[in-house]
Amino acid sequence: MSLDVDAIRKDFPILAREVHGVPLVYLDSANSAQKPQVVIDAEAELYAAHYANVARAVHTLGSEATAAYEGARDKVARFLNAARREEIVFTKNISEALNLLAYAFSNAATTPGAERFRLGPGDEIVVTEMEHHSNLVPWQLLAQRTGATFKWIPIDDEGRLIESAIDEVITDRTKVVSFVYQSNALGTINPVERLVARARAVGAISIIDAAQAAPHLPLDVQAIGADFLGFTGHKVYGPSGVGVLWGRYDLLAKLPPFLGGGEMIETVDMTGSTFAEPPHRFEAGTPMIAQAVALGTAVDYLTGLGLADIREHEHRLVGHALESLSAVPGVRIIGPTTNVDRGATISFTVDGIHPHDVAQLLDERGIAVRAGHHCARPVCVRYGILATTRASFGVYTTMAEVDALVEGLDAVRAMFG
Ligand code: ALA
Repeated sequence: MSLDVDAIRKDFPILAREVHGVPLVYLDSANSAQKPQVVIDAEAELYAAHYANVARAVHTLGSEATAAYEGARDKVARFLNAARREEIVFTKNISEALNLLAYAFSNAATTPGAERFRLGPGDEIVVTEMEHHSNLVPWQLLAQRTGATFKWIPIDDEGRLIESAIDEVITDRTKVVSFVYQSNALGTINPVERLVARARAVGAISIIDAAQAAPHLPLDVQAIGADFLGFTGHKVYGPSGVGVLWGRYDLLAKLPPFLGGGEMIETVDMTGSTFAEPPHRFEAGTPMIAQAVALGTAVDYLTGLGLADIREHEHRLVGHALESLSAVPGVRIIGPTTNVDRGATISFTVDGIHPHDVAQLLDERGIAVRAGHHCARPVCVRYGILATTRASFGVYTTMAEVDALVEGLDAVRAMFG
């Protein structure tokens, strides 16, 4: 069944508004997606009717809030097809999910039983050249803390991983392989199974940054077979301030904590502490209660629409956009130009016009796109450019909006003569 985009658009109140006197054309969902009314209501309802702190209050409101928060964990577990609900850790966002791992790995140096996560000189951490900063910087810092070597799989002129480099870069010395499922800057969908299989073959821990995949395609962590995977709430039409780290339970059970504080402990005395079982070991302090609850609503909303149908809808949009944008003189697509293993995010440059000017002038026509390096500066360095303009689509994007972008670019080019 295909998506009923007209009906979906009515779920998102913000899409009814105008910008500069014209209807909003929101093409910045890879940056942050808009929110359906059910998500807005879920957060408001928690505050209006059930709010209290979770996991520590015995009163009725405390029980209701705890049930809602833990219910959201069940919903996310179903969304990812996790084997156990305890494999879902709520974090602040994808950046915190990845930092949690990187800091927990260095805390492993002094934690008995956590030898699996220890790194030192001679060990290697592998990422790809298309990572955004959240999946680069934490690993660079981990390499600095441990003396491990930081390496990456390079990308080709089309914005895809160089296939032959996968086996060369991931070696017997590799301890961690962390890679993006779908690139936020290029739109590339990576060969996830291939990367996970190679990591497993050399005994490395595999980690997937699925922040740009979770809104667009079905994820099944058991089928994917990686060790850890993370995504963020605000890109799956949920609230900001909440994200998810999924980990295989046997690994989470051995993983040292990252942040210390309330509710992550088993017992505390003045000479030391012991820690709770996962997931609570990784959720120190009062969590993002209402946001997690509304994230549960958001993933259920996506499941209700159908991830396979979402993928199909966005695949059609991308096909149309690639064809139309390629026909605009002076436009260079940065990333795959064919609609194969490619998601709903298209970066491009326009000859002689700075990407920020393109974005600014499009905004005057009500069209919201992102310009910059998209927090993935090495991608721009790879292609010898400072920045790109990026259009990204979601469940509510229409073909007419893709056409509005193309007409907008024609108008921008005309202004620059
Ligand atoms: N939010 C960032 C993006 O726009 C990373 O892709």
